Amino acid sequence: MSYLTECREFYGQFRQRYYTTGSILPSSRALARALVSECRKRSRPARVLEVGPGTGAVTAEIVRQLRAGDHLDIVEINEHFVQVLERRFEDEPLFRARRDQATLMHAPLQDVPGVGIYDFMISGLPLNNFPVALVRDIFRSYQRLLRPGGVLSYFEYLWIRPMKKTLVGAGERQRLHVLTRFLERKIAAAQFREDWVFFNMPPAVARHFRFD
Ligand SMILES: C[S@@+](CC[C@H](N)C(=O)[O-])C[C@H]1O[C@@H](n2cnc3c(N)ncnc32)[C@H](O)[C@@H]1O
Repeated sequence: MSYLTECREFYGQFRQRYYTTGSILPSSRALARALVSECRKRSRPARVLEVGPGTGAVTAEIVRQLRAGDHLDIVEINEHFVQVLERRFEDEPLFRARRDQATLMHAPLQDVPGVGIYDFMISGLPLNNFPVALVRDIFRSYQRLLRPGGVLSYFEYLWIRPMKKTLVGAGERQRLHVLTRFLERKIAAAQFREDWVFFNMPPAVARHFRFD
């Protein structure tokens, strides 16, 4: 899939489903690499979960790094994006080569069953769009699904919450305030590394968490 087609698909979903899509453009290769950097260091076969793949910008980097014995589960809430990815696994040599090692699920993350099953989770969920109660639920799912010692990598756009706060009404400002406090507590407790990625629209930070 060309980058232009990918952007068109992504923007179409942004307009139809702003709340869950959360951004105008897919992630850049530089951001995808930062998100996959912890997973790349593994020394034995791993079970990986990608959350919210969209058009597959980060998925492409994950499949590029998959080795024999690894397995990739992918969970996506938007059926249009699920269809786009199914097509990519059918048509594109990079994806097709790893088709037998990947399982695509059309569901919200919160419905993925299991406890302590993933070595790595790579998430593109737009947390800043969500109510705080949903973000708490999402973190409960991250922590339930990650095995002890496993790594969660996710990203957020730089300076987006402080910037949004200056543009919105009181109710939304209060949501962003509570969300910021919640995320700051999580970052203080579990983040062991962050990578700032300026080559992305908009610039982003990839965060890497270990919960134990
Ligand atoms: C900001 S986009 C990221 C897309 C892609 N990972 C990237 O970086 O280009 C967020 C993605 O998360 C998906 N999503 C939102 N809420 C979700 C949920 N609860 N479970 C699974 N996917 C979800 C959206 O449909 C969308 O594909």
